[in-house]
Amino acid sequence: MTKKIVITSGKGGVGKTTTVANLGVNLALLGKRVCMIDADLGLNNLDMVLGIENLIVYDLNDCIEGRCRPKQALVQCRSCKNAYLLPSTHSFVKSQAKERFKELIDGLSTCFDYILIDCPAGIGEEFRRAIALADEAIVVTTPHLSALRDADKVIANLRSLKMEKTSVVVNRVRGDLVVSGRMISPEEIEQTLKCALIGVIPDDDFVFLCSAGEIPPEAQSYKAFRILASNIINGKKKIFAYGKEYLGFWGSIRRGLKKTL
Ligand SMILES: Nc1ncnc2c1ncn2[C@@H]1O[C@H](COP(=O)(O)OP(=O)(O)OP(=O)(O)O)[C@@H](O)[C@H]1O
Ligand SMILES: [Mg+2]
Repeated sequence: MTKKIVITSGKGGVGKTTTVANLGVNLALLGKRVCMIDADLGLNNLDMVLGIENLIVYDLNDCIEGRCRPKQALVQCRSCKNAYLLPSTHSFVKSQAKERFKELIDGLSTCFDYILIDCPAGIGEEFRRAIALADEAIVVTTPHLSALRDADKVIANLRSLKMEKTSVVVNRVRGDLVVSGRMISPEEIEQTLKCALIGVIPDDDFVFLCSAGEIPPEAQSYKAFRILASNIINGKKKIFAYGKEYLGFWGSIRRGLKKTL
């Protein structure tokens, strides 16, 4: 059965779109058929993160207004033939058309194993609309107080909206800072938010490569997103070893070097 997962957050800019793109590509690399959808209507940028903005012919508005069939609008990703984007729109979307969004997604369900929905930040009307499209939610947060406080509010909202399953991804984790006690650990975040931790993604300058079509096997973020994808497929909770290289004698030297960079 198709899993429809909404990727959401309280605070903006914490890495929702990055998570949708990298998770989508990694699920596809593991053999699943994936469709990514940008529910941030009007302010969408998932196409750019996937590096396929120039390949778009039709968008969501065209599907909703009957100018094309949903399958005609799908754009195949560069990194994997199993991953597709249903392009969102920069133009104004009538509220009546927004109601048809759900029908459109339900119609696509038969062709995919996973539908990932990139949700706008916050808990407004657009958030509720995106939530209604999915049966599972992943809340993305960074290990910073403002992001955590907003994540807590979003989790409370998801519970009150009776979302079947909610889990947390902690993005932009700095292993060196966690090991030296200067950043809250993902495990502490899990306890504070009282929500299952399903993934930890390190802060990584190469995070954009995999989603844009270049697979960097050595990149830490690529390894972490691969673990997250297999957790989702297998229902496990394996966590990327974010602090491993900063432990022990050599680890303390690496931490010192990172501080001076
Ligand atoms: N793990 C990471 N390491 C380094 N940079 C990251 C990481 N995750 C995200 N970023 C960067 O953070 C910025 C914001 O990411 P992104 O656009 O995915 O956030 P968002 O939650 O979708 O934002 P918005 O709320 O505006 O939709 C981007 O420049 C992205 O490349
Ligand atoms: Mg975004």
